[in-house]
Amino acid sequence: MILTLHGAVTPPSRRHPASSASLRSIDGATQENFDQRQSGCTMRAVIIPEWGGPEVLETIDTEVPAMGADQIRVRIRAFGINRAEVLHRRGLYPTPGHDFKRRRRIDAEKDIPGLEFAGEIDAVGDEVEGLTVGDRVMGVVAGGSYAEYLVTAATHAIPIPEDLPFVQAATIPEVFITAYDALERLHVTGGEWVLVHAIGSGVGTAAVQLVVARGARCLGTSRTPSKLERAAALGMEAGIDTTADELAPAVHRITEHGANAAIDLVGGPMFASTLEAMASRGRVIVVGLTAGRRADVDLGVVLQKRLRIEGTVLRSRSQAEKTDLTRSFREAVLPLFLEKRLRVVLDRVFAFDEIRDAHAYMESNASFGKIVVEFR
Ligand SMILES: NC(=O)c1ccc[n+]([C@@H]2O[C@H](COP(=O)([O-])OP(=O)(O)OC[C@H]3O[C@@H](n4cnc5c(N)ncnc54)[C@H](OP(=O)(O)O)[C@@H]3O)[C@@H](O)[C@H]2O)c1
Repeated sequence: MILTLHGAVTPPSRRHPASSASLRSIDGATQENFDQRQSGCTMRAVIIPEWGGPEVLETIDTEVPAMGADQIRVRIRAFGINRAEVLHRRGLYPTPGHDFKRRRRIDAEKDIPGLEFAGEIDAVGDEVEGLTVGDRVMGVVAGGSYAEYLVTAATHAIPIPEDLPFVQAATIPEVFITAYDALERLHVTGGEWVLVHAIGSGVGTAAVQLVVARGARCLGTSRTPSKLERAAALGMEAGIDTTADELAPAVHRITEHGANAAIDLVGGPMFASTLEAMASRGRVIVVGLTAGRRADVDLGVVLQKRLRIEGTVLRSRSQAEKTDLTRSFREAVLPLFLEKRLRVVLDRVFAFDEIRDAHAYMESNASFGKIVVEFR
């Protein structure tokens, strides 16, 4: 027997199918879920029955995922929204294996979107050590966090600092781990200039703080001047409004020699000028492609400056790599929250049944920092 349920923690809901107003027919999948509800525990979750705008997001009742011996089950209290889920919804970055119509059964990790969570453990596998029911945890997952429950590897869970509410904690995992990992890969050291595109994004607002925490200097870009002002309050030394200024000359003017490192969260047409903006032996990490997948670059710039260009993605990493990154993050970054050297940047909170509004808000590009969905 794997599950360990404690009476103090609310178990998964056992709803009668007829009480679920949100249930809809998605080919055979809904009938299958209906059958599952007769025997198992169910939860509310969001699925993407077809690619499209925020309106395609549907809330259904589905089975609480089964848990393995080295896993924990978490009752989710809040989860962050990420640009990757917007791309997933549009069919541009689907979770590998997303195909419940063909499978006729919901696979939580593949079919339910969501890359991060904050909640409390309500069951632990037999082989799990050091975690118990009731512990408050947050973390990154490959999918499945737009739901009341998820299961995840125990080694991917991060304890939530004591005084941090779930909504605030939900802003941390995906963006701070991504930014931390990027800076590690870039080997950023004190005094270096780090260029961060889309500084007002979730990842950008985490990156600026982590750059400062390393003793390095942050230079950020945005298409929205007010976001540059707000990023300055987080420690950004100089900002460039890319709708008004040409990137490369502005970076050289500010830094004198160019940026030593760059975290590119937008890609697309600006990539060529990012390379122009780099100092000799600069390092660039491509993290996001919000502006597009294609770039027309002068490779002579890469040669002459002896640039190093790397790409990264968290989702496709092995379980072991994720365990190592989680451990390293817990040791290097979590204490900085406890010391108040890092702070969460929360823009807006939506209720679970406002998931479509949350996605529409992210796509409006109005947010600064994180958008969070809360179970109320
Ligand atoms: N590789 C990974 O493992 C990984 C992990 C996490 C995130 N990411 C990526 O990191 C990026 C940021 O993610 P997020 O969730 O933090 O994003 P976010 O909070 O939604 O912020 C994105 C911001 O980018 C700017 N933007 C949007 N379209 C743009 C365009 N065409 N050109 C230039 N700027 C544009 C907007 O700000 P303005 O007001 O400045 O326009 C927008 O607010 C995304 O590309 C995401 O896919 C990658």
